[in-house]
Amino acid sequence: MFTATGVSESELQKKGRKVVRRAGKQVLLLAAEGKIFAIANRCPHEGYPLSEGTEGPGCVLTCNWHNWKFDLASGQALVGRDPVRTYAIEVRGGEIFADLSDLPAEVQRKRALDGLVEAARYNDAPRMAREVARLERAGFDAGVALAHAIAALNERLEFGTTHAHGAAADWLALAGRAPSDGERLTAMIEPISHLAWDTLGARRYPYSEETTPWDATALQAAIESENEPGAIALVRGALRDGVPRREIYAALGRAALSHYADFGHSAIYTFKTSQLVERLGPESALPVLLALVRSLVNGTREERLPEFRAYDATLAAWDAKGGLPAQAHDFVGLSIDAALDRALQSSGLNPRELYDALLGAAAWNLLHFDTGFDRDTDNQIADNVSWLDFTHALTFANAARHICEALPDLWPSALLQLALFVGRNKGYVNAQQDVVAFHVSDAKRFIAEEMAGLYDHGIVEPIIACHRIKMLFALEDELAAVPDAPWAATMCAAMNRYLNTPQKRHHGLRLAAQARDFIAREG
Ligand code: FES
Repeated sequence: MFTATGVSESELQKKGRKVVRRAGKQVLLLAAEGKIFAIANRCPHEGYPLSEGTEGPGCVLTCNWHNWKFDLASGQALVGRDPVRTYAIEVRGGEIFADLSDLPAEVQRKRALDGLVEAARYNDAPRMAREVARLERAGFDAGVALAHAIAALNERLEFGTTHAHGAAADWLALAGRAPSDGERLTAMIEPISHLAWDTLGARRYPYSEETTPWDATALQAAIESENEPGAIALVRGALRDGVPRREIYAALGRAALSHYADFGHSAIYTFKTSQLVERLGPESALPVLLALVRSLVNGTREERLPEFRAYDATLAAWDAKGGLPAQAHDFVGLSIDAALDRALQSSGLNPRELYDALLGAAAWNLLHFDTGFDRDTDNQIADNVSWLDFTHALTFANAARHICEALPDLWPSALLQLALFVGRNKGYVNAQQDVVAFHVSDAKRFIAEEMAGLYDHGIVEPIIACHRIKMLFALEDELAAVPDAPWAATMCAAMNRYLNTPQKRHHGLRLAAQARDFIAREG
């Protein structure tokens, strides 16, 4: 609907430009090269007034704050990113009328989503935030933006699922608890930003378009043989034919736990992406599961590494007859082989009892991580150990527990893989350090306060923030399952230490030393 601006054509021709305020909008009217234009006066970059801009040839307006340039006719940003809103005008009886009505919601939605994807390609965080805010203003849930970003960027994931997907369900959950709209939007933007970070500069790695009828056993075989097109085709078939997602998740969970896969990432991603699909809605299932299948196909089988090779034999020897009671301290300090053997001696226990013992030992390791290893500059590559080597024991345990509750026959694999974490990390702890200060007296309050701090975490790299949120949700979930778990106090203290100890985020000297060492030996 056209609105009178109160500005005559002759007045505008004389003055060149004029700002009018109508319907809550600031509209800039310009006369340039014999034509009249109406655009939003607030620059779409940071909101400074375009009325202070400089006109150039070809009806181009430059915003002088950061030199973005706009085509006045289309609003397109010729330099810069977001387009500026243009308004249709009519001259009636010498007076300028402008159509200031909002664009149809669907048009706004498309513009915001297109802009979001473009912004993601440049990892342009401010614009991503603006586009999600635009989408919300048009009446859509920010979850639409996340689902769209996942689909649009999916082919740029060379190895499939990343921690961006892995933490997305938790960011959505945190958004659902946000005390304000601003905090909610912050949490919604985080996984989109993380995806943009992970796909920056990546070329396209298209997924196979083939579709074959669902067969859970065939999926397992395809993943096992690293046949990505075959595995993708089966998942496409499952979704096309309406196979219950629970059944698909179960098959993927079985594949994830069939190896000590990717240092636990395969199980973590399988569990967390199933949560993501259930939170975002079924239309997100295809891109999310395609990426997951790719990551499972590509996942390293770490039990093939020399230090973990006893895993296969121990799993084969698992007879569910070992009756030795188990507690956390039984596993603390054990080597990998000893931890596997000790777990075998308790194979006949209720899995939950052995799980608690192993999780307790993993918590003790996290609480006693010797951060000297994190700071070392003259260590071997094999000893590049950081907090995340410890945190994955908890997030893996949480994921594996959920998978095993649906598929109890996988408990031996999950428990022995947890033993691998415990044994592997025992070489990087310092039992003598004083950890009393990290005691947590009120777990619920501690978790709530740490979660509240995540809205404005101030951490540049999304990989760090995403581990914090995943750890907190995993802890909360584990405590909800067994509030008086024997490891609760140790795990809370360990979490407190992990979250509140500065982390070294760049190892320039170590990197250079290890590179020089390798090149000196190998050329
Ligand atoms: S505010 Fe206009 S270019 Fe930055």
